[in-house]
Amino acid sequence: MINKMITDTINEIQKHGDFKADIALVLGSGLGNFVESLSQTSRLSFSDIPGFPVSTVEGHSGQLVHGFLGDVPVLVNSGRVHFYEGYTLEQVVYPIQILQALGAKTIILTNAAGSIRKDYTPGDLMLITRFLNLTGHSVYSHQPEPEQVFDPHILEIVQQIANKKDIPLKLGSYAGLNGPSYETPAEIRFLRLKKADAVGMSTVHEAMAAFQAGIQVLGISCLTNYAAGILDQPLNHAEVMETGQRVREDFAKLLTALVQSLSR
Ligand code: HPA
Repeated sequence: MINKMITDTINEIQKHGDFKADIALVLGSGLGNFVESLSQTSRLSFSDIPGFPVSTVEGHSGQLVHGFLGDVPVLVNSGRVHFYEGYTLEQVVYPIQILQALGAKTIILTNAAGSIRKDYTPGDLMLITRFLNLTGHSVYSHQPEPEQVFDPHILEIVQQIANKKDIPLKLGSYAGLNGPSYETPAEIRFLRLKKADAVGMSTVHEAMAAFQAGIQVLGISCLTNYAAGILDQPLNHAEVMETGQRVREDFAKLLTALVQSLSR
């Protein structure tokens, strides 16, 4: 059952245009530019949507956008909130519930992440095949977390699209931590032992909430930097933002092809 808070949020959103679509995207740090690939956009600031959590982090512009990728309608959450900002888990995943209430049957979650492997270089896109929820919190409170939230069939389709369009795409496991500090080199060595390929501070809760709600969910990381200790140099937030801009083109190509294919 859709609760009153969701109904109020949806009613307010619908006053501003026809925000409905089967496919939705959530854009992570530095990836907000993707909305420029859309046509006929309607935009609504998260801060103007009652009940919607608003991010305080640089690189998250915080808008709900409706538009078209080619002829396919999509909903885009440009920006997200993180647990480390002081929001509850319910607030972190509220935008996923709203996307579902606006019609989303498939949600593509994107993020910026640090690479834990030397052969996955900054600027690579990585399809998340599984994740480690290392945040110590979960929407699956007192229940086992699902073994696999990303449907193997969809993972296969994404790889085929990337191959066909000649878009380099790595595959890997994403370790979700709370942040907001970047990890120590020792923590990254630990994650490597645990077979993680990338590390970040988002996505795991949204992915599980979407799965729990029966939404088909996909995760794509944009590897913006080598994680701490992989190279002999410190990392900084500016580097994360800058690399996000560089992979913009491949990212837009992949998402466009993916959305076209999912809409068929
Ligand atoms: N660690 C955690 N989160 C991140 C990183 C990182 O190296 N890069 C982008 N998000």
